[in-house]
Amino acid sequence: MASPTNFLVHALLCLALATTVFSLSPKFYDKTCPQALPAIRKVVEAAIHRERRMGASLLRLHFHDCFVNGCDGSLLLDSTPAFETEKNALANLNSARGFEVVDQIKAEVDKVCGRPTVSCADILAVAARDSVVALGGPTWKVRLGRRDSTTASMALANSVLPSPFMDLAALINNFKDQGLNQRDLVALSGGHTLGLSQCVTFRNRIYNATNIDPGFAKERRATCPRTGGNTNLAPLDPTPAKFDTAYFKNLVKQRGLLVSDQALFNGGSTDKFVKTYSLNRNTFWDDFAKSMVKMGDIKPLTGKKGQIRVNCRKAN
Ligand code: HEM
Ligand SMILES: *[C@@H]1O[C@H](CO)[C@@H](O)[C@H](O)[C@H]1NC(C)=O
Repeated sequence: MASPTNFLVHALLCLALATTVFSLSPKFYDKTCPQALPAIRKVVEAAIHRERRMGASLLRLHFHDCFVNGCDGSLLLDSTPAFETEKNALANLNSARGFEVVDQIKAEVDKVCGRPTVSCADILAVAARDSVVALGGPTWKVRLGRRDSTTASMALANSVLPSPFMDLAALINNFKDQGLNQRDLVALSGGHTLGLSQCVTFRNRIYNATNIDPGFAKERRATCPRTGGNTNLAPLDPTPAKFDTAYFKNLVKQRGLLVSDQALFNGGSTDKFVKTYSLNRNTFWDDFAKSMVKMGDIKPLTGKKGQIRVNCRKAN
């Protein structure tokens, strides 16, 4: 009987099926490998214990994976005759790090699961969350079930990863292209409460910018000369191994390190979010967690698309 009600019921059932089968879920590995998540956390914690910065580096890998054709582990693939690795893209070359830790996690998780079960894309999502927690930040349920790509694109990485020289309008557009709004932009930029940056990325700002605290500029010039020292490191906020609100407190004082950091508090539409996060840790934490889940949902490969890589560096 083809009644309109019948049609509606059928449509709803299809929708329900499609979303249960093909959307990500925190319980994805509960049946197939319940030991997976604790195993990932253990390797992440050990790596951070060896070097605090590794937590920052792992968080950044998930971001740089998700922005390039979705969270599909494409960033981890090494070059082949068919494509050049995304590791050679402008934003990643001599900058993205932590690939050896990802290899270690993959080896350990496949060992405890007995076979390749957890995708490299999911490993990045879980390692990012575990890193934030290990460095004193919020936790959230990571939605899982992403599958791995068989290809990568350096050209796409070059065109979609945001540059540290972008102004606010460019940053807003860049995130909008990924389905992320201004609040997501500011919350996720809060990832810069962790980690370090190289002189070459902030030199122009500390010598030429007008929207910078002079004392801060002077401090940074001491280890970032006008010429040379391109790879000298400086912290993105005063507490680079602690997930706190110092990044936002700093922006309010015009002590942002990158042009793209200070752009978020420079008299524009995002000032209010920076102000809020600088004053209210819980709001930052809640929003950061929400936006991480949203970023982790960008174009995942699910169902029968993609594969579970055996080695995160190459397609099966
Ligand atoms: C809004 C646009 C963004 C731009 C333009 C940007 C740019 C940069 C740059 C230039 C560096 C320093 C790289 C180097 O000097 O080698 C960096 C580091 C970092 N970024 Fe971002 N970033 C952005 C957003 C994000 C987001 C959304 C996250 C994560 C949620 C993030 C997490 C990090 C972390 C943790 C580091 C430190 C990495 C380490 O110490 O190894 N960034 N970013
Ligand atoms: C400062 O700006 C000038 C003019 O744009 C440029 O030539 C110079 O290289 C900049 N200085 C630094 C240290 O980036």
